[in-house]
Amino acid sequence: MSQRVRKAVFPAAGLGTRFLPATKVIPKEMLPVVDKPILQYGVEEAIASGIEHIILVTGRGKGAMEDHFDISFELDATLEKKGKKELLELSRGISSMARVSSVRQKEPLGLGHAVLCAKELVGDEPFAVILPDDVIDAAPPCLKQMIGVFNEKGGSVLATMTVEGPGISAYGVLAGAPDPQNPRIYNCTGMVEKPKFEVAPSTQAIIGRYILTPRVFELLEHTQPGAVGEIQLTDGIKALLKEEKVFGYTFEGKRFDAGDKFGMLQATVEFALKRPEFGEKFRAYLKGLV
Ligand code: UTP
Repeated sequence: MSQRVRKAVFPAAGLGTRFLPATKVIPKEMLPVVDKPILQYGVEEAIASGIEHIILVTGRGKGAMEDHFDISFELDATLEKKGKKELLELSRGISSMARVSSVRQKEPLGLGHAVLCAKELVGDEPFAVILPDDVIDAAPPCLKQMIGVFNEKGGSVLATMTVEGPGISAYGVLAGAPDPQNPRIYNCTGMVEKPKFEVAPSTQAIIGRYILTPRVFELLEHTQPGAVGEIQLTDGIKALLKEEKVFGYTFEGKRFDAGDKFGMLQATVEFALKRPEFGEKFRAYLKGLV
């Protein structure tokens, strides 16, 4: 079994109902922040973290995601004919970015079930899970930071962010104590889904980046669907906790929930402000509005 984290699973078979009507036909993962689909931000993060194989878990009507990472022969030929070199490089760059495979989740039966669909493609090795609607601005990339923790500690790693106050109730929250050597690393003892602020076990909200050992697949296979008929990834990780060490890690950087309309607006504004071509112009425009 390879102990290196080489593969990243992107669950992208959900219905994206929070983004209707935009997501009636277009996959949520293809919605852009400025000019790049949110899925591509995650794929670039994975590649910059040393991942060699991208595994997309897709569903009905999600073919655009596979096409996006494939060669677009007509587009490339037209750009070449018109001498649009930079755009041609951009288009070719996407298709040669990484090895991309996909697997279908026939019904959206939950995040745990989506991850389980990637079992054959992952095999018997540790792997990353990236939820594409969590767009993260971080240097070094969030997943790279997590791989460092995985290599040091040798156990599954859940990325967390600190949420002070009642806002914590919107998240899965990590239970456990910080490592005395490194207060960013938590020895995880449990997880509580959307707790009331008063009883939240910590300030550490679990976000959409995980490094998991392959044992989680067997545990997910035996995980019963919850109240809404979905197999939850957190239930699989809770079962993993009974057998192996699991760590929380407060990543350095900023995460945007681009699966939500407000979070998408925040990501759009902040990424646009960082763009050298028009960041200053956009800042002046925003100032003029308020
Ligand atoms: P979300 O719950 O945020 O996505 O799941 P959703 O269900 O598409 O969105 P809403 O809530 O209806 O707006 C987090 C990630 O897990 C994937 C989603 O595609 C998303 O990237 N997912 C979720 C699956 O791949 N399969 C599922 O059965 C559920």
